[in-house]
Amino acid sequence: MLNLVIIFIIVTCINSVRSDCPCPDISLCAPLQTEPRHEKVAFMVSDSNWRSYDYSQLTTIVICTNDIDPQLLCLAHSRQVRLVWIANYDVKQLSNSTARTEWVNRQVDNVKRTYTDGVNLDMEDEIPYTSDAAHKYTELVQELSNLIHVEVPGSMVRIFRYLRYCIQN
Ligand SMILES: *[C@@H]1O[C@H](CO)[C@@H](O)[C@H](O)[C@H]1NC(C)=O
Repeated sequence: MLNLVIIFIIVTCINSVRSDCPCPDISLCAPLQTEPRHEKVAFMVSDSNWRSYDYSQLTTIVICTNDIDPQLLCLAHSRQVRLVWIANYDVKQLSNSTARTEWVNRQVDNVKRTYTDGVNLDMEDEIPYTSDAAHKYTELVQELSNLIHVEVPGSMVRIFRYLRYCIQN
């Protein structure tokens, strides 16, 4: 009986997640899976003109707005284009492991909640090479990458600034 109740709860949870998907084809709410490819990235700073992007020329859109129109998700995924959220982290809190963990969890929750594909870390502050902050920054990126790749298979963590590389699952 308890097993049945648990199964019922699990099925209800799965259904409620699926019914949140804004796309008529719920497969478009799965994180995009692609072969490694040459990245062509656009930064979306306004949510007014995404319908007129040339999706055939893009692989990733970095969302720099506070929110997205759910229809952007359906369109981008149907055209094999990833959506990743721009994210900042306060350099003064780099050695605060509690703050790092909370931030990482927030990023991953946001990506899961919006059915998007990852995070673009864009830290404005300068971090001296080989400094303690640089090591902590690397740890932050590792912590984010480790969790998001487990929670959202196929997801992406992009990094700009002093580490100019890009990790793809
Ligand atoms: C570390 O982060 C936690 C969680 O954000 C915060 O409550 C705390 O004040 C921070 N500690 C310091 C020393 O800034």
